[in-house]
Amino acid sequence: MPSLFSPLQLGPLSLPNRVVMAPMTRSRADENGVPTDIVPVYYAQRASAGLIIGEATCVSPMAKGYSRIPGLYSPEQVAGWRKVTDAVHAAGGRIFAQLFHTGRVAVPALLPGGAQPVAPSAIAIKGKNYTDLGPLDYVVPRALDAGEIAGIVAEFGAAARNAVAAGFDGVELHAASGYLVHQFLDSTINARDDIYGGSIANRLRFPLEALDAVIAAVGADRVGIKVSPCIKFNDVVEPDAEEVYPALARELSARRIGYLHGALQGRYDVHAAMRPAFSGLYFAGSGFDGPKGEAMLAAGGADAIVYGKYFVSNPDLPRRLREGLPLAEGDSKTHYSKGPAGYIDYPAA
Ligand SMILES: Cc1cc2nc3c(=O)[nH]c(=O)nc-3n(C[C@H](O)[C@H](O)[C@H](O)COP(=O)(O)O)c2cc1C
Repeated sequence: MPSLFSPLQLGPLSLPNRVVMAPMTRSRADENGVPTDIVPVYYAQRASAGLIIGEATCVSPMAKGYSRIPGLYSPEQVAGWRKVTDAVHAAGGRIFAQLFHTGRVAVPALLPGGAQPVAPSAIAIKGKNYTDLGPLDYVVPRALDAGEIAGIVAEFGAAARNAVAAGFDGVELHAASGYLVHQFLDSTINARDDIYGGSIANRLRFPLEALDAVIAAVGADRVGIKVSPCIKFNDVVEPDAEEVYPALARELSARRIGYLHGALQGRYDVHAAMRPAFSGLYFAGSGFDGPKGEAMLAAGGADAIVYGKYFVSNPDLPRRLREGLPLAEGDSKTHYSKGPAGYIDYPAA
């Protein structure tokens, strides 16, 4: 039975352990989406992870749904990320980029020229987006036309090529948390009556086109995808999740991608249905500590365990788990703040 400290082969990459760092938005990019100088320090501090999955990164200016999040669509962003990947590799680590488009989670103040956000359908999120300009109401997004969807697919491909150019070891497609890819999967958000909506096969079309563009750029064995079925976030509902996710998993198997990453938030039945339909590596995340992670691996429930908030406050998390050292609790007030505090100042044990 594998433990958290058994090595794992992910395509061409040899992971020294199965303690994976979750993708986490930390809002330390500049106004142009370029990682600031503290970002290489932060990721290099966490290079003992079997794999680091980088924070959600925009495929285009229209993808930007939060203040100070990074992109991978300009030469300056590629150069900024190159400093990050070099620092992680110099520290002995491996890092994937996570690519996303926020779709209807964006607000005009964050978009070029105050543009209206885009989404599968003109259905707004309830509530507010907490930006540097203050809390802003979500707006009714503009439904994408079919031709524009091809353009966004191309942006995912271009950003994936940029990730390779920036030195990333692979790319994770962010199909979770109610952002654009996830918006297409959910029939309460996607009300389209063209080939991108309606049946499950149609709702899978854009997610798989985006995935195929990433695969073409990176190679299937260096590609992962993150899903979070029925997550209570961004008005996700997914009334037919127990059918959608096994269907998605079968498509992922056919493409022989590196891994499927499931954030297990409540709907264990959906994960249980999805997992046997996928033939590759399965990464399980959300709510794990050391003992829970070991138990999951021992039960054959996953091939690796993904840790989020504990990696924020424990840069040396693998060592702490291996030696049974206490885990520091972090301060969520600095999750998305500016500067080094709460970012690069958590000490090793
Ligand atoms: C500060 C913070 C930022 C996050 N940003 C992202 C993100 O950019 N992409 C993503 O897929 N998930 C994001 N998540 C979710 C985590 O990847 C993970 O699924 C979640 O924290 C549950 O794992 P945990 O219980 O180990 O923290 C974020 C979580 C936190 C705490």
